[in-house]
Amino acid sequence: MKRIFSGVQPTGNLHLGNYLGAIRNWVRLQADYECLYCVVDLHAITMPQDPVALKNATREVAASLLAAGIDPAHSIVFNQSQVGAHAELAWIFNCIARIGWLNRMTQFKEKAGKQRDSASAGLYIYPNLMAADILLYKATHVPVGEDQKQHLELTRQIAGSFNSTYGVELFPMVEPLILGAATRVMNLRDGTKKMSKSDASDFTRINLTDSPDAIVQKIRKAKTDPNPLPEAAQGLEERPEAANLIGIFAALSDDSVESVCRRFAGAQFSAFKEQLATLAIDTLAPITGEMRRLLADVSYIDRTLREGAEKARAIADPILRETQSIVGFLRP
Ligand code: TYM
Repeated sequence: MKRIFSGVQPTGNLHLGNYLGAIRNWVRLQADYECLYCVVDLHAITMPQDPVALKNATREVAASLLAAGIDPAHSIVFNQSQVGAHAELAWIFNCIARIGWLNRMTQFKEKAGKQRDSASAGLYIYPNLMAADILLYKATHVPVGEDQKQHLELTRQIAGSFNSTYGVELFPMVEPLILGAATRVMNLRDGTKKMSKSDASDFTRINLTDSPDAIVQKIRKAKTDPNPLPEAAQGLEERPEAANLIGIFAALSDDSVESVCRRFAGAQFSAFKEQLATLAIDTLAPITGEMRRLLADVSYIDRTLREGAEKARAIADPILRETQSIVGFLRP
């Protein structure tokens, strides 16, 4: 059986990186897999959150998923905190994962920065919760952007270690699905940094809620280099900003980087950027419009998440009980 699980944090606006690296693929994969898509609010509080803003962001992110084409009649869409089993399985994995494994996680190092000692303990064990999210459903495939690859390797390590510690074949080895031409969308102002929700400048990213005008401005102001566009993908080496914009164009038009290079060979960035902005607006404007429409009826979003959580619990609870019994918890 093939089952997909993936998650997104409700921390601020979703951006083009989330869309091209993950959500667009989630929509497409619905045709071939049983899918669970989760707004991971337990993960969000590993960093400080304003409670009212967190509730709003959870609804907004859920609305973006539905607006992008995730069908709640077909896929299970819910927010993590409504399914208590995530935290219960995570505890068991906290006792399986070794501190040395967590010490290798680059995302913790990036997020904790120099203030390592004052980072929350939750941020440190975050990858164990992520492993629990996936394995709680015995998911086999996980569509994510490039930045989550290391966490998925840890998930495999935890699954393997659990199985061998207890001499069982309970958890599957999950396969990451890192798909498309833009698996790591970069910051529009610095092509060596990832596009991220947390960057202080809004000009570094394109949000799913941006107006067409804002998209045009951001793409116009995006950093480039003085050379014209290359004829082949090879010419993008050492040109991170050009590589990023061409990668975005390729992903948005479902084309390859090679073919986008051939199409714009020798062109100036100004002409290319105009076409890129049009393409981005054509893709995002319908999603933004639908998201606004959905958010006008918060009760619909809340009901969808509640029903999704019920369906998720029906899969998760027996798997949690089986795991607890293997570990030796007495549950008469
Ligand atoms: P999050 O919320 O940071 O991002 C959600 C998804 O978007 C992808 N992504 C990107 N892809 C390409 N370019 C970018 N610049 C970019 N930025 C983000 C991410 O790879 C991700 O797929 N830990 C996860 C959430 C999570 C999860 C899970 C994912 C919790 N449990 C279980 C999969 C399975 C996170 O913080 O994603």
